[in-house]
Amino acid sequence: MSFHILVNSTLPGTITAMFDPAWKIHPWSKLQAEDSILQEIEGMLIYGHPTINASLMDQTPRLKVISNFGVGVDHIHLSDAKERGISVGYTPNLLDGATADHTFALLMAIARNIVIGHRYACGPDFTAHDPSILLGSEVHSSTLGIVGLGNIGKQVARRASGFDMRVLYHNRKPDPNAEAALGATYTPLPKLLTESDFVTINVPLTNETRSLIGSKEFAQMKSTAYLINVARGGVVDHNALLYALQNGQIAGAALDVTEPEPLPRDHPLLQQENLILSPHLGSATIQTRQAMARRFIDNLKAGLEGTPLPTQAT
Ligand code: DGY
Repeated sequence: MSFHILVNSTLPGTITAMFDPAWKIHPWSKLQAEDSILQEIEGMLIYGHPTINASLMDQTPRLKVISNFGVGVDHIHLSDAKERGISVGYTPNLLDGATADHTFALLMAIARNIVIGHRYACGPDFTAHDPSILLGSEVHSSTLGIVGLGNIGKQVARRASGFDMRVLYHNRKPDPNAEAALGATYTPLPKLLTESDFVTINVPLTNETRSLIGSKEFAQMKSTAYLINVARGGVVDHNALLYALQNGQIAGAALDVTEPEPLPRDHPLLQQENLILSPHLGSATIQTRQAMARRFIDNLKAGLEGTPLPTQAT
């Protein structure tokens, strides 16, 4: 059936190949607020993290469904969508393994100086093997603190068991089933921060988790510990992180996400030798992105047809 669909960004061909040929696609960049076609929009495909708020929803009075490419929906005002009877689809579960793999990739990279070592190994200063340089921290048999033992956090815990790590976790409440299955121990946040060698952030960004890790929390961490954030930049206070990295409150950090994203090119965090960054690659594998694309389109189709969405955030 023919529907008018608003698309906020240029989408890869692997996704556009899944479009129903009858759909009429309208790129957001080509529309003005007063454009009459907005009155006809019934579906939205959201790729990246633009803010989708009440005022945008009110410009599209026939909107039935917003389909988001990703599990994080902090950029979509869900209660406004719910009030207007708009379904919001998202892509949970499909990306847990890839995001946990990336969490571990960053953890290993910061602990073992992979990025700085790569630069050195490719440069003119590497003339002979020197056993005294770039000594990292052991990952195996260390203590991992997972902040947010949800679907991704659980996968991180499974990987940690292969490294013989002691696993602590913090959630709003203990999860005895997960504890039994994963050998993880529920720990209040201050104790988790005090005892962990590696702290991974695996919570969604909500009002409760915004700036969850700030000056007080960095002061509680070991000076030899590392922070890894593959969730959302807003969970970590960046000024407090900068202070912690510059003043030896922690040994280093590895971030897949920042706020804003990207950071301004002259942001002082980008100059820190004890920080590594990746450009929001948590779920970026060929297989996972393909599965997310399929769900992205299936959620949209279901919303347009008025049937239950395969995975609905609200
Ligand atoms: C997610 O799934 O939320 C990723 O951050 C991609 O948006």
